[in-house]
Amino acid sequence: MKSLAGAIVTAACFAFAAPAIAEECQSGETVIKFSHVVSASGHPKGDAAAHLARRVNAEMDGKACMQVFANSELFDDDQVMEALLLGDVHLAAPSLSKFEPYTLKFRLFDLPFLFQDLAAVDRFTASSAGQELLSVMTDVGFLGLGYWTSGLKQFSANKPLLLPSDAKGLTFRVQTSSVAMAMIEALGATGRQLAFKDVYGALESGDVDGQENTWSNIYTQKFYEVQDGVTATNHQLLAYLVVTSAEWLKSLDPDVRDQLLQIVREVSARSNAAVARKEAENRQRLLEAGAEIRVLTADQREVWIGAMKPVWEMFEEVVGADLIEAAQAANSAD
Ligand code: LMR
Repeated sequence: MKSLAGAIVTAACFAFAAPAIAEECQSGETVIKFSHVVSASGHPKGDAAAHLARRVNAEMDGKACMQVFANSELFDDDQVMEALLLGDVHLAAPSLSKFEPYTLKFRLFDLPFLFQDLAAVDRFTASSAGQELLSVMTDVGFLGLGYWTSGLKQFSANKPLLLPSDAKGLTFRVQTSSVAMAMIEALGATGRQLAFKDVYGALESGDVDGQENTWSNIYTQKFYEVQDGVTATNHQLLAYLVVTSAEWLKSLDPDVRDQLLQIVREVSARSNAAVARKEAENRQRLLEAGAEIRVLTADQREVWIGAMKPVWEMFEEVVGADLIEAAQAANSAD
């Protein structure tokens, strides 16, 4: 677990940031601050957080009030975990790749080519194995309230990528995930772990050559402006854990807690059902903005799978062969 001292300083520095979705909270209402790093709208997570706030503020008026801080304006994903424990924010939804300081189990979700599509992800997260993972961090004070999927990741770089050998020698920005680092190394490339808010600048300056992310992030963060093109590899999942402090949740009045949890469940289901459509829309917007999208042949895709899938073995022991099997079983609808 990381030290909390740095977070106290960070929290103090950002104490006066205004929420992207301003809501006047009345006295007596439980204030719920939600901090995330993506666009406030036009992105599956930004839209889900905004929808959650609208529902809480309409349906829990007088009892609770939600403020959403988007675009890393309050905290980045590392800082937000500490801020949750300090009570500076109450809800967050970092990518499942970013929980390594707290649990190694979520390395599962980063295994390349694990899920064949978003429907398989939904089946796994709804399964008993997926649901049990929500409480895997209670010993360090965090509780998962649900999963928000975001899409499958695509590679982009400052040169065309059609085969893994095209990535050799390049540097790619990755999230703070050892699976992602191993996967990039398997391509003969180098991974650099950077906060999301720093990715555009690093691509623009040439500090890194490429990156991997969803259509929605590549479009809304404008990464395509500073890349040669995007290759539709669909190689890895991006999904979020809606996470809170177990202690804060326990401190709420039972009726406030129950209503909030019910709204979170409903918003999560609605958001996840809309992700595939939003991803397709943002892919189309990329094309309309003039971005080059390269589609792989079946043979080319097999070469990417052959290059990256061997990293599974490196993580099988910490993740657990049974969990990997349960996730793979979700690829079949039966
Ligand atoms: C990233 O760092 O690339 C993602 O976690 C950003 C996000 O929240 O979608």
